[in-house]
Parts: sequence; C-alpha cells; structure tokens
Amino acid sequence: MKLNIIITSTRPNRVSPCIGKWFYEVAKQNNNGLQVVLTDLAEVNLPLLDEPYHPSKHHYLHEHTKIWSNIIETSDAFVFILPEYNSCAPPSFVNAIDYLYNEWNFKPVGFVGYGAINGGRHSVENAKSLMEAVMALPVEQSVIIEHAVEQMDDDTFHAKDTQISAAKRMIENIAVVASDLHEMRTPGNLEAVKKVSWNKFAPWHADILSQVGR
Ligand SMILES: Cc1cc2nc3c(=O)[nH]c(=O)nc-3n(C[C@H](O)[C@H](O)[C@H](O)COP(=O)(O)O)c2cc1C
Repeated sequence: MKLNIIITSTRPNRVSPCIGKWFYEVAKQNNNGLQVVLTDLAEVNLPLLDEPYHPSKHHYLHEHTKIWSNIIETSDAFVFILPEYNSCAPPSFVNAIDYLYNEWNFKPVGFVGYGAINGGRHSVENAKSLMEAVMALPVEQSVIIEHAVEQMDDDTFHAKDTQISAAKRMIENIAVVASDLHEMRTPGNLEAVKKVSWNKFAPWHADILSQVGR
C-alpha cells in the first residue's frame, strides 16, 4: 500500500518542502510496511477548480485533473504537510481536495500542521472537516509545529524529539487504518467493516459509515 505525503503550500519562499522532506525521511525509516512517496502540489500545478461536472461523476475534461486523479487513485493513505493561513487550511489544499471525490473515499489521512503561533492547529481541524466531507478518514494523531521557521536552518528542518515521536505514532496509526480500509474498499467485501481496530484511531468513522448506510 502506498502512503503519499503531499506538500500543500505553493507560494514562493514556502517552507513546506523542507518540512515535507523531513517527514518523508521519517516515514521511509518508519514505514510500517507502507511504500512512501512524496508529491508537491506546486508541481501538480492545478488551476482553481475548472471542471464542469461534480467529481463524483468522474467525468474529467482536463488533463491536469486526470493526472491528479491518477496520483490520488493509486495511493492508499495520505499525510498533508499543511501550513495555516488566517486560521484556515491554505486555498491550494482546499482546491486540490475539491477536484476529486471517489479517489479520497475510505482512505486514512494524517497531517503535519505548522505555522506561527498556532502551529497549524486551526488549519488541521479545518482540514479534517474537509476530508470527512469527501469520506476520507482523518486519524486522531497529528504533528503540530509552532513557529516552524525557528526550526529551519537554510533548507533543513530540525525536528524536536516530541515532533519525531508524534510523526512515528501518526504513521503507525495510518498503517493500521490503511490496512483495514484497503480491505473494505475491495468490492463486495463487507466483512472488513466489522473490524474495530481502527476505531480508536479514527473516531469519525461511525458518522462516515452511517452516511453511506453501512
Ligand atoms: C497569508 C498568511 C496567513 C497566515 N496566517 C497564520 C495563522 O493564522 N496562524 C499561524 O500560526 N500562522 C499563520 N501564518 C504563518 C504561516 O503559517 C507560516 O508563514 C508558514 O511558514 C507558511 O507556510 P509556507 O511557508 O509553507 O507557505 C500565515 C502566513 C501567511 C502567508
């Protein structure tokens, strides 16, 4: 199964890639059996949503949407490297999520939130609500980085021990949930829904399952 780490800031002088590269290395060394890949939204280069049909129809007209759809469809779990702008998730992230729907369904997501004084807390809470709307499952554990620039040295992010521990726990949680959800996404396999091992990591799942009548 593939864990896709997604760098979400697209602005010049962003610190997102530095934090993304740090987390990517932690994830590779603590992969819990997951294949780990890194994606940069600045390279995906999506314009503001320009598809005429709701993404659940999967009727995409533009090449950039087809490429983005394939990146997400072929991934089983996500960690978003997520800054906070004005107490919200960045518009680049919201736009990238809105492009798709089925591709996100029943996949676990985690967050490395960062910012100034808020450390990305508001952004992560905001982003969790958005991911629930596309029926992804946010895990409870997040990594929160306050005053991220103070831990930067040129292009290198120097993590604190608490941040490394939080990152490892989050990857463990994602691996457990990813395994159960992967089974659940297999067509016709309702047995997996009865599993409870991911309950404690993704307390939102009951609401999501009730929405689809399971
Ligand atoms: C438009 C804007 C709004 C911001 N709002 C907040 C905020 O509400 N809370 C916070 O903790 N940091 C805030 N910050 C600080 C950013 O989180 C910080 O600069 C971070 O490095 C941005 O990520 P990036 O460099 O990868 O784009 C804001 C920065 C920008 C540019």
